[in-house]
Amino acid sequence: ARLGVLGSGTGTNFVAIAEACAAGRIPARVALVLSDVPDAGILARARERGIPARYIPPGPFRTKLDEAAERAYVSALQEAGVQWVVLAGFMRVLKSVFLRAFEGRIVNIHPSLLPSFPGLAAWRQAWEYGVKVTGCTVHFVDAGVDSGPIIGQQAVPVHDDDTPETLLQRIHQAEYELYPRCLAALVRGELEVQGRRVLWRRPA
Ligand code: GRF
Repeated sequence: ARLGVLGSGTGTNFVAIAEACAAGRIPARVALVLSDVPDAGILARARERGIPARYIPPGPFRTKLDEAAERAYVSALQEAGVQWVVLAGFMRVLKSVFLRAFEGRIVNIHPSLLPSFPGLAAWRQAWEYGVKVTGCTVHFVDAGVDSGPIIGQQAVPVHDDDTPETLLQRIHQAEYELYPRCLAALVRGELEVQGRRVLWRRPA
């Protein structure tokens, strides 16, 4: 299978995914990396690995792509033969042009146990709230913010001496395990979506 990865930041989840593909733990390869940030780390990390990587300008809005930009992202992904769109720190919500082009084929990772703490800096929201357990969530993407059917979650404890930064590091370590595991099941066709519930079918 061919994955297209979208990110705005450093790209450490992308690296975990690319390494899992290279090691055969995900039966897929990353065919293309796209970013809305011209100097994003994720683009450099992709190019270092010989994976095609492009900055595509997002247009004038701050939290979404404009329609022309969505069409440009979709065309690039389609031309690369991408079947699954993997959001890895992509800081914009996707709208109808994109969602329709890849319906049911877009996944995201979020650094909290959804539905707690959707939105920005979720690890900090959890730390400030004072929860004792948080974690990360991989989910299908729908028109809401961090709201689609949940594929997998991994719990992370919050320690008394944590700062938001030390907590985030622990969440990241969980992300690097969870995302490849979920993507492997996804591309193997082991996930069955029943409304909001995603069931993990083991192959017979
Ligand atoms: C991750 O914490 C992910 O949960 C969130 O954005 C961050 C991306 O980090 N959606 P990186 O670019 O993969 O290092």
